[in-house]
Amino acid sequence: MLLLVFAIAPVADKVAAEEPSPLKSIDRTTPTLRTPLDVISHGSAVFTANSRTGSITAIDQKNLTIIGEWSTGGTLSAIESNGRFLIATDESADRLLVMTPDLSQCKLLLNSQHRLPTNPVDLAISSDGGIVAVSSLWSRTVSLLTLDSSGTVRLQSSVSLPFCPRRLLFIDCCTVIVADSFGGNLAALDATSGRLLKQFSVHGHNIRGMAVNPRTNSLLVSCQTLDSSTFTTYERVFWGVLMQNGLHSLPLDTLFSSSPPPSFAKGVHERSEFQQGGNYAVKSEALAAAPAYARQDGPGASRYPLGTPSIGSGDPGAIVVTSADITALVLSGTSQIAFRMASHLPFERITTGRRPEALCLSADQSRAFIANRFEDSLTVITFGKETAAVETTVDLGTMRPLTEEDIGEQTFFNAQVSLDGWYSCHSCHTDGHTNGMLADTFGDEDRGAPKKVISLLGSADAGPWAWNGARKHLEDQIHTSLLISMQSQISTEQLPVQPLAAWLRTLQPAPGIATAENRLPDPRILQQARQVFETVGCTNCHAGRTLTSADIYDVGIHDEQGETHFNPPSLSGVSQRAPYFHDGRAATLEDVLRSAHHNPNEPLTDHQIQLLLNLLDTL
Ligand code: HEC
Ligand code: HEC
Repeated sequence: MLLLVFAIAPVADKVAAEEPSPLKSIDRTTPTLRTPLDVISHGSAVFTANSRTGSITAIDQKNLTIIGEWSTGGTLSAIESNGRFLIATDESADRLLVMTPDLSQCKLLLNSQHRLPTNPVDLAISSDGGIVAVSSLWSRTVSLLTLDSSGTVRLQSSVSLPFCPRRLLFIDCCTVIVADSFGGNLAALDATSGRLLKQFSVHGHNIRGMAVNPRTNSLLVSCQTLDSSTFTTYERVFWGVLMQNGLHSLPLDTLFSSSPPPSFAKGVHERSEFQQGGNYAVKSEALAAAPAYARQDGPGASRYPLGTPSIGSGDPGAIVVTSADITALVLSGTSQIAFRMASHLPFERITTGRRPEALCLSADQSRAFIANRFEDSLTVITFGKETAAVETTVDLGTMRPLTEEDIGEQTFFNAQVSLDGWYSCHSCHTDGHTNGMLADTFGDEDRGAPKKVISLLGSADAGPWAWNGARKHLEDQIHTSLLISMQSQISTEQLPVQPLAAWLRTLQPAPGIATAENRLPDPRILQQARQVFETVGCTNCHAGRTLTSADIYDVGIHDEQGETHFNPPSLSGVSQRAPYFHDGRAATLEDVLRSAHHNPNEPLTDHQIQLLLNLLDTL
């Protein structure tokens, strides 16, 4: 596993509670797409965070009617409550919003706003309500902030991670678990000091749900497990060999006692391979601590497989566990929830709206509210004595007709497109990016040479497609992806190729890590780096705006089937998608630049490598 380096920067960045201002109320009947991504119970209502409209909808928990909807003017990614305040993250404006509902007046008041590192995607609040943890995706940061009773927010520390974080969970008053957005890495942080307590991993990727099961004192993690050594054939998909969806259970005792917490040299000067800045990277031996749970989940861990042959369960996500030991989790890809009435019982399923993405319990835990991302609705589930059932569905407002791009997005995240619902495109190309793994999808028409899953962020512009450049049109690649990678049973005439292509064309490259972290190198260094990039000949193959070219080249990396020529990947956003090359053999960009045959003329000097790394981090 990657080195984990923590830069703890106490910052006296305080935002005083201002005079609360009411947010603008929205008319629910104007047709739009809300796209709710999160839902939370607060007082007598539940509140959804609607990403596209940047609005918050309040629904009365008793009579299940809508109380109101208010605009925050952003793109919301998550919402939480600390009992007193509602707290949300705005992904487009990089803000934390602290709000108080005044439902008797049908108002939502904005108390304060706070700047966050680029792309805040999730937040969690400590049990005493005093600490807010926020994960920022591309800037790979977890911000730990204090929130006092007057709504004043203060940044305590920023923790840099070697992976892009997403899901967060407080497991006690002051320990927060951070999960990788793409791979299977996890870290436990002391939320008061920002110190790393433990790093570990699950045998899987796409971690989208975490909860503590108090009965078993274990950490539940929902994720997927892709077997890179098998192929995407009918049989292997059918039997759940290729992609498994599981609920992993990691005993907290062993998790925290199996080895002493790694001690990291304090300070911000050690940087990981991802964090080369103006002063060049120094790799510290002391940081290679903390053995990961290699391919296993560790001592005492277990995995509950969700799905059996002919009943897949693509993209498992958010989890809740009630005090009466009921567990419910969303199966986002198959538009269902799975629930079990006690930890020792098997899971059953209920159909929800399209792509349930988040769920929360009512105040008395008798119900669960499920936010349906692609249906602008909440499914309300009631827990009876022996089973659970859908009580009703609450529409959040009038939906506008879907465009071709919208249909493409929904198709991309729909596991029903694959054979028996085992996985969606997102299961490999996480949120359009890559899960960082290898898969044998016969892109090269050959078995036994699995390829790195290519990030689709910006890739529509960077043809030809597939590692060997064999697909001259994006549509041809998508056609193959549907038939082979997905083993889709949709008839050939009805394959949703055009909508998928339309949506993929909207995806922009990920921001370079240095850009996301707002630490661009000195312009003179960048200028020198660009010169090196040209003079040593990188531009012979990585040229133009997308930093690629249409040809295929032999750069000395041959695959298991003797294929020698590959198409240069676009270098836009390259710093965000380790490991590198078609077989993932290079763990870091430095490894790419030091690889024997990659540089056409003579080996690069250390100085040239450092300059190029500076440049690649900004692309
Ligand atoms: C099992 C994992 C997996 C699934 C599921 C999957 N892909 Fe891929 N995808 C890959 C791999 C691996 C490659 C690289 C294949 C190669 O070049 O040989 C790839 C390549 C691509 C490319 C080419 C990108 C480029 O820049 O060259 C596109 C486009 C693509 N996939 C789209 C999709 C779409 C759309 C879906 C869903 C219909 C999908 N994929 C499902 C693994 C997957
Ligand atoms: C002769 C053509 C050629 C030249 C010159 C070249 N590259 Fe590449 N590059 C490629 C090809 C082809 C690949 C993909 C190889 C593979 O994965 O099998 C690649 C892969 C890469 C990757 C990995 C991308 C990924 O997503 O895995 C990086 C980074 C990269 N090149 C940077 C550079 C830099 C920097 C230079 C100049 C020092 C350079 N390349 C020179 C053809 C070239």
